Amino acid sequence: MKYHIPQALVTGQEKKAESTYLLSFHAPEIAKDAQPGQFVHIKTIEAYDPLLRRPISICYVDREKGLVVLWYQVVGKGTKLLSSLKTGDSIDVIGPLGRGFDTAISGEKIYLIGGGIGIAPLIFLAQSLKEENNITAFFGGKNKEQLLPVNQLTSINCELATEDGSIGHQGFVTDLLLRRLALEKPARAYACGPNGMLEQTALITRKHNLPLQVSLESVMACGVGACLGCTCEKGSSGEEGWVKVCKEGPVFWEDEVKLL
Ligand SMILES: Cc1cc2nc3c(=O)[nH]c(=O)nc-3n(C[C@H](O)[C@H](O)[C@H](O)COP(=O)(O)OP(=O)(O)OC[C@H]3O[C@@H](n4cnc5c(N)ncnc54)[C@H](O)[C@@H]3O)c2cc1C
Ligand code: FES
Repeated sequence: MKYHIPQALVTGQEKKAESTYLLSFHAPEIAKDAQPGQFVHIKTIEAYDPLLRRPISICYVDREKGLVVLWYQVVGKGTKLLSSLKTGDSIDVIGPLGRGFDTAISGEKIYLIGGGIGIAPLIFLAQSLKEENNITAFFGGKNKEQLLPVNQLTSINCELATEDGSIGHQGFVTDLLLRRLALEKPARAYACGPNGMLEQTALITRKHNLPLQVSLESVMACGVGACLGCTCEKGSSGEEGWVKVCKEGPVFWEDEVKLL
C-alpha cells in the first residue's frame, strides 16, 4: 500500500559531510509499511520547478515514533531544495514505492555491498535482517567524510574502503568482497551503488555462485509504472525486453536486468 502525505512534518535535517544530509520526517503509515529497498517520491517545492518528484531510498525507519530517515546527496535543483528544509517544515511525499529486497532469509551469512550514497537502502536492509542473520557489510566511498553516517545509523559489522585511504582499505569496496570470499561462502549478497560497482560485484558473485540482489538507480518521472521513463533492459534470466525500475524494481535479482 502506498500513501500520499502532502504535509509530512520534518523532524530533523543534519548536514553530515559536504553536500550530504540526513533528513527525517514523520510519516507513521510509510514507516509502518515500508520494506527495505523501497523508496519515497518527494515533491521538493510547492511551485512547479522542478515539476517532477525526486526518488530517494528509505534509509532507516523508527516504527514506534513513525519516523522515516533519508540519506541523500545534493546533486541538482531538487536535492538542493530538499537540503534547505528545516525542522518544523513539511514535505509532500508518496511512498513506500517499488519492489524492495527479498528479506525471506534467516540463520544465514549475508553480505551487503554498498558504494557512496548507495549505502542508504542497505542500512534499512541491515536493520531488518540483523536479528536473524549474520551480516557483514562492505561499504565504500570517496573518503572518510562520505562514510560518516554509517556509524550513526547501524551497529553491524562493517569493513570500509575509501578511494583516498582516509579510512579502511585504500581502494574499491569490491577488493574487500573478493578478499573475504576467498575465506568463506555466504548464502546471499545484496548490493547498491554506482553502476560500475554493481557490474564488478555481479562478475565476482557469478564466479562464486553467490545469489545477488541489486538495487538500481534510474532517472524517474511518475515513479509508479505509468510513463516508461525509468526502463532498463532485461537480463539473461527471462525473455528479452524492458523492465520498469520504479515498479518492478528498484531491486532485482542480478540476472533479471542487464548490468554488464
Ligand atoms: C530508486 C532510487 C533511489 C534513490 N535513492 C537515493 C538516496 O537514497 N539518496 C540519494 O542521494 N539519491 C538517491 N537517488 C538519486 C536521486 O533520486 C537523484 O540524485 C535526484 O533525483 C536528483 O535530483 P536533483 O533535482 O537534485 O538533480 P537533477 O537536477 O535532476 O540532476 C542533477 C544530476 O543528477 C543526476 N541524476 C538525476 N537523477 C538521478 C538518479 N535517479 N540517479 C542518479 N543520478 C541522477 C543527473 O543526471 C544530473 O547529472 C535515488 C534514485 C532512485 C531512482
Ligand atoms: S518512472 Fe514512470 S514508469 Fe517508472
